[in-house]
Amino acid sequence: MNLPFAESYKIKMVESIRRSTKEERLKWLKEAYYNVFNLRSEYVYIDLLTDSGTGAMSDKQWAEIMIGDESYAGASSYLKMKAVIKELFGFNDFLPTHQGRAAENVLFSLLVKKGDIVPGNSHFDTTKGHIEFRHAKAIDCTIDEAFDPTLDYPFKGNLDLNKLEKVLQSNPIEKIPMVVVTVTCNTSGGQPVSMQNLKDVNALAHKYGTKVIFDSARFAENAYFIKIREKGYEDKTIKEIVKEMYSYADGMTMSSKKDAIVNMGGFIGFRDRKMYEEASVYNIMFEGFVTYGGMSGRDMNALTQGLLEGTEFDYLETRIKQVEYLGEKIKSAGIPLMQPFGGHAIFIDAKKFFPHIPKEEYIAQTLVTEIYLEGGVRAVEIGTLLADRDPETRENRYPALELVRLAIPRRVYTNSHMDYIAATVANVFERRETITRGLKILREAPIMRHFTVELEKI
Ligand code: F0G
Repeated sequence: MNLPFAESYKIKMVESIRRSTKEERLKWLKEAYYNVFNLRSEYVYIDLLTDSGTGAMSDKQWAEIMIGDESYAGASSYLKMKAVIKELFGFNDFLPTHQGRAAENVLFSLLVKKGDIVPGNSHFDTTKGHIEFRHAKAIDCTIDEAFDPTLDYPFKGNLDLNKLEKVLQSNPIEKIPMVVVTVTCNTSGGQPVSMQNLKDVNALAHKYGTKVIFDSARFAENAYFIKIREKGYEDKTIKEIVKEMYSYADGMTMSSKKDAIVNMGGFIGFRDRKMYEEASVYNIMFEGFVTYGGMSGRDMNALTQGLLEGTEFDYLETRIKQVEYLGEKIKSAGIPLMQPFGGHAIFIDAKKFFPHIPKEEYIAQTLVTEIYLEGGVRAVEIGTLLADRDPETRENRYPALELVRLAIPRRVYTNSHMDYIAATVANVFERRETITRGLKILREAPIMRHFTVELEKI
């Protein structure tokens, strides 16, 4: 008999999670105004709100916590992190920050000016936010294949070189401080960018005289997909692939809450010493001194160890295969999903799930609430609530896709949990015709409404 695939780790510590009844969940959901961000976490059985900062640290990471150096300046924890960043990414200089968006805030304070243009592959919300906050514009140059949810294409995170060249050609280059490449591309479903594309984007950007910055939250998952899917990389280690990927970047912003498997943390990596020196001023103002920047020594230690573990093939294989396992289970129930499955999450196509619910009634959010009611599983809406209103007309913006994201925390749940999640979604799918109406907004904030919006069932 062939031995089956099994996880590359065992469990040393456990945390209880509480099952609840449907009656309890209905009461809690009403109290939360049909917004799962308002639920207490103890009311959630399986939490798939995000894979960010929700991973389980290893014994070695916890051991590193005990030997953190809390010196204000020149801490050994900082030097250890610096050495590993150099080893993995090839960058001599880095600045620690408290999370990913803080890294964006520091770097963009230096690079992005009013009227600038920042092309990229479906910039993440906070990245776009930090660009638009500075009255600059983010231009999406993702390949068209990314927008067809059922198309099985291996690198849906790729940038379209023609679209990118058009932007570079038709604007003064001093207005384009950088190209942002997000690996993997969260917004288009955790889809990877190929090595060839990273190389081509770098060549194009440099030909026109601008920089390339990688938004790196899930860089290791991207490297795994390159190894599995791109010709010529099958025999390379993840660390070798990462090193080559970053040879095509001038710098990086990192949310360490994902692939560095810590609960909080981030950093910026620099190729150019001058850029590091200039950005240091903003780091000191917003985050902290250059050798801690918003992180404690013990947290830098855990992050450093996490970077090393997060780039091990066995860990990544366990991780991505679990996401795939869930995807296959849900797919086999006939439920419409985005394909191929991304690195960190499964995305359900809510419009196809509930074709009879009008878009004005928040289709994806309706599905999120039904999944919670059914099994206590908390997912997140990536649809009309998130897309928000047009800042000028104040009309709802209806995105092409109404999605529900099931993001899988790293090393937290077992495949029995995946079976439970799949059964929960399948049960909702079975009774989908009985769910004829969606939700109505009672109260909402002027921007970023999805976090605090209050709704009721129609
Ligand atoms: N870039 C990407 C690609 C991200 O996915 C995130 C966060 C950030 C930057 C910002 O990092 O949260 O540390 O400030 N994504 C989370 C998510 C919130 O749920 O996908 P942060």
